[in-house]
Amino acid sequence: MTAPEIIDLGGGLVLRRWRTADAEAQSQAIAESREHLLPWMPWAGRVTVEERRTTLARWEREWDTGGDLVYGLFLGPLVAGGFGLHRRIGPTGLEIGYWVHSAHTGRGYATKAAAALTTAAFTLPSITVVEIHHDRANVASEGVPRKLGFTLVEEYPRAAAAPAESGTFRLWRMSRDRWRPAEASSPPHQA
Ligand SMILES: CC(C)(COP(=O)(O)OP(=O)(O)OC[C@H]1O[C@@H](n2cnc3c(N)ncnc32)[C@H](O)[C@@H]1OP(=O)(O)O)[C@@H](O)C(=O)NCCC(=O)NCCS
Repeated sequence: MTAPEIIDLGGGLVLRRWRTADAEAQSQAIAESREHLLPWMPWAGRVTVEERRTTLARWEREWDTGGDLVYGLFLGPLVAGGFGLHRRIGPTGLEIGYWVHSAHTGRGYATKAAAALTTAAFTLPSITVVEIHHDRANVASEGVPRKLGFTLVEEYPRAAAAPAESGTFRLWRMSRDRWRPAEASSPPHQA
């Protein structure tokens, strides 16, 4: 089974696999969200259309060869954010990463998209866990796994790589057997 290339979230909101042709729209959305992203994502300050073309082309190759699955969040034709299922936690897990355009935050989009990607991850036979990692100071990011009922597993030191980071990360985990999309608003489980 392969991951879906398009996931309809309803209300005009769609997760779609990024394509190289999205380079301009993606770089514009990142530029518009620069001040909002920079505290947590220093790469946002280095984005150009050319650099995005190269990055998106690499993501296309990685998807095709069994690597990371990276999606754009689209509201109609507008880029509303970026999400990824990253293969960096071993062969049986995927880590969700996300950012939402500054004009579209606080509407539940990250929660909705992360829920859909958790469901998509568990359609892949090899995947038994989905994780979300974020800096302890990033309360907006923490709201997503908390709302979805992920378990807070641990805190661990990680050298601060962005201006607002504290150097302590939180790891939240969901297992295939515990995932109930309909219960996504249940209280978080503490390890
Ligand atoms: C983190 C981020 C993706 C959240 O996107 P979002 O679409 O606004 O998130 P949601 O609307 O789904 O919010 C989910 C929960 O998070 C919490 N939350 C969201 N923004 C918050 C904020 N600014 N302060 C405190 N809590 C917040 C809320 O508890 C919310 O639940 P509620 O709707 O019941 O109040 C967005 O703020 C962002 O792009 N931040 C910059 C990039 C980043 O930090 N990415 C994550 C790196 S690990």
